[in-house]
Amino acid sequence: MGKKIVVITGSPRKKGNSFAMTEAFIQAAEAKGHTVTRFDAAMKQVGGCHACETCFKSGKACSFDDDFNEIAPAVLEADAVVFSTPVYWYSIPAQIKGVIDKLYSFCVAGKEIGGKECAVIACCEEEDMTVLDGVRIPIERSAALLKWHMAGEVLIPGVLNIGDIEKTDGCAQAAALADRI
Ligand SMILES: Cc1cc2nc3c(=O)[nH]c(=O)nc-3n(C[C@H](O)[C@H](O)[C@H](O)COP(=O)(O)O)c2cc1C
Repeated sequence: MGKKIVVITGSPRKKGNSFAMTEAFIQAAEAKGHTVTRFDAAMKQVGGCHACETCFKSGKACSFDDDFNEIAPAVLEADAVVFSTPVYWYSIPAQIKGVIDKLYSFCVAGKEIGGKECAVIACCEEEDMTVLDGVRIPIERSAALLKWHMAGEVLIPGVLNIGDIEKTDGCAQAAALADRI
């Protein structure tokens, strides 16, 4: 049966490496009958968590109303959440980190959010796979805390410029990820 998948991206480069993998994943997922809701965090406005702990009290996930409140209902309903992002400074880019931080709203409000599938698609310039740990580890640990199951990871090192992903099997791996959800 088709699942509801939320894909959250972190790159500001629309023709970049992680977007190419994102598109390969989405195409494969939709071909399998899944419904994909995509949220390009870098093209949205999502601030950091204020830790005010008033989440959902006004009806909206975040009281500091920003574009997180667009995606929050879809995340709540989703069967799977896929994060697709480059590595910035050995870590998660600010644009998508705001979305990840605001997942805290579901915990504060006691929302039933466990049991989802989770996956990560990530890339970086350096050839060293441990550079990807800065994205992989926080997502794996966050998924564990949320009681989400890691369905798969596509981790592609050695890509810097737009188009570099085509010299790797990153898009093929991203498409194959759809089989694991
Ligand atoms: C602000 C910034 C910080 C970056 N930091 C790293 C880094 O710490 N390690 C690394 O290997 N690549 C780093 N990169 C390179 C990107 O991860 C790489 O170019 C990636 O392919 C970009 O993905 P995109 O095309 O989807 O935006 C950085 C790029 C930018 C713009």
